[in-house]
Amino acid sequence: MKDLSEIKVLFSEDEIQSAINELANTLNDYYKKEDVILICILKGASFFATDLAKRLKMPLQIEFVRLSSYIGEKSTGEIQPISLSLPDLTNKNILIVEDIIDTGRTLKFFSDFINDKYKVKNMKICALLNKKAKRAVEINTDYFLFEVEDEFVVGYGLDYNGYYRNLPYVGYLN
Ligand code: IMP
Ligand code: MG
Repeated sequence: MKDLSEIKVLFSEDEIQSAINELANTLNDYYKKEDVILICILKGASFFATDLAKRLKMPLQIEFVRLSSYIGEKSTGEIQPISLSLPDLTNKNILIVEDIIDTGRTLKFFSDFINDKYKVKNMKICALLNKKAKRAVEINTDYFLFEVEDEFVVGYGLDYNGYYRNLPYVGYLN
């Protein structure tokens, strides 16, 4: 594991927190007093989802699913649902929260899974980071905080082989 001093900060803790404030304001205006079910995709989105949830003012329920596609720095291309149990989402407002959209396969898999199983009222996707360079499937990102180049990033939930999730900022590993 690399020393933390070797990680180049890309988005600081302050930048992330103020971008989350702005997104929360947008979502509070959009949903008003409607009920929402926020679905956090573990493990990467855990920090983002909880910081965002703390600022949301509508009646909110929070669910967690665990999906996996990465080994080290490589996307395997196959999504593994590790834990996918959810309440009945019929006629609900769904807000999916993801750490980063890379190929788009994770979110495609998950949004298709929900749409095949439930007739939801409304589904929105928000991601901390958008990495457009490797997009392999089309995915409608409703909200994202920052764009990133085609580089592997860690921190604020994002890992490399399980490490670095706890950094309060996002940085380049190399
Ligand atoms: P996708 O299915 O290719 O869009 O990949 C999404 C998942 O890949 C994310 O939830 C992350 O877990 C992981 N991922 C993609 N790029 C990075 C990165 O730069 N750092 C850490 N994880 C990444
Ligand atoms: Mg992830």
